[in-house]
Amino acid sequence: MSELIEVLTKDGSYSLRSVFFQENFHSLSGALEETKRKFTAPSDLQRFQGKSLNVLDICFGLGYNTASLLNELIKQKSLLNWYALEIDKKPLEYALRNKSFQKSWNPQVKKIFKSLYKNDCFEDQFFKCRIFWGDAREKINIIPAANKFDLIYLDGFSPQKCPQVWTIEFLSKVTQKLNPQGYLITYSSSAAVRNTLRNLGLKIFTIKPSDNGSTFWSQGTVAIAKFDKNKFIPNLSFEKLSLMEEEHLLTKAGIPYRDQNLNSSKDDIIKRRLEEQLLSNLIPTKKWREKWGMTKLAFKS
Ligand SMILES: C[S@@+](CC[C@H](N)C(=O)[O-])C[C@H]1O[C@@H](n2cnc3c(N)ncnc32)[C@H](O)[C@@H]1O
Repeated sequence: MSELIEVLTKDGSYSLRSVFFQENFHSLSGALEETKRKFTAPSDLQRFQGKSLNVLDICFGLGYNTASLLNELIKQKSLLNWYALEIDKKPLEYALRNKSFQKSWNPQVKKIFKSLYKNDCFEDQFFKCRIFWGDAREKINIIPAANKFDLIYLDGFSPQKCPQVWTIEFLSKVTQKLNPQGYLITYSSSAAVRNTLRNLGLKIFTIKPSDNGSTFWSQGTVAIAKFDKNKFIPNLSFEKLSLMEEEHLLTKAGIPYRDQNLNSSKDDIIKRRLEEQLLSNLIPTKKWREKWGMTKLAFKS
């Protein structure tokens, strides 16, 4: 599964490409930038200054999302109870070897990552961390049920390349692990994923596109469990879906990925969805793209 190729991204940070999944771990415009924009900023970590929080990182990879999280929490003296799920140990092995990756963070991050690699866990007076290696669809079941998360990062390969971690059945398990007002954060703005999260009862938001002339109309999705307007602290990184995004959800692209017993192969999940799309009377996504002048480039989910 794990032939990995090193990739230097445009902001100077390193990432990987998976030969098996035929996809890069990060956007070529910058792995570090992507983590900060799509995961750290929407997390609104100042809320937890001097307090404790629970975080679940699904598809840990090299650990950019967690490294950036730890880096901020160290500065603001938060207490963290953290779990992660990842199928492959090699990306962490690579991150531990890559000097440039290590230089981006407080040295404590390397100590934690080393311990995760060697012992699958780390504990000190501030942080309690555990990583479970294996298929997230199975390993999610061994996270003790009492743990509910304030933040869940979902950073799998794209739904077309790795639908296993974007199905109704898996996302249902994931969202059950959110605290009330907890955020699930993902880079994906796929209509199928957004519909699934909304149908599971979450309130969904779009992560705003960057102002640096980016052609993408969204940087991802934040889904909030048991959303309560009165408890919500407005966040500058995300906002309500635009009309264009709402209409996207009404097209065939909004048909969800399904994996009834949480053990289907990628090909079976994709095939079932294609069959459902063929039989569906929903608007073809091409029509939506034409209406909104959408190029394929602007349409990365
Ligand atoms: C896009 S990369 C993650 C990038 C990562 N968050 C980072 O900061 O480097 C996707 C990751 O999902 C992992 N993965 C793929 N299928 C998985 C599965 N079924 N369960 C758990 N992890 C999976 C891959 O090994 C890979 O590390």
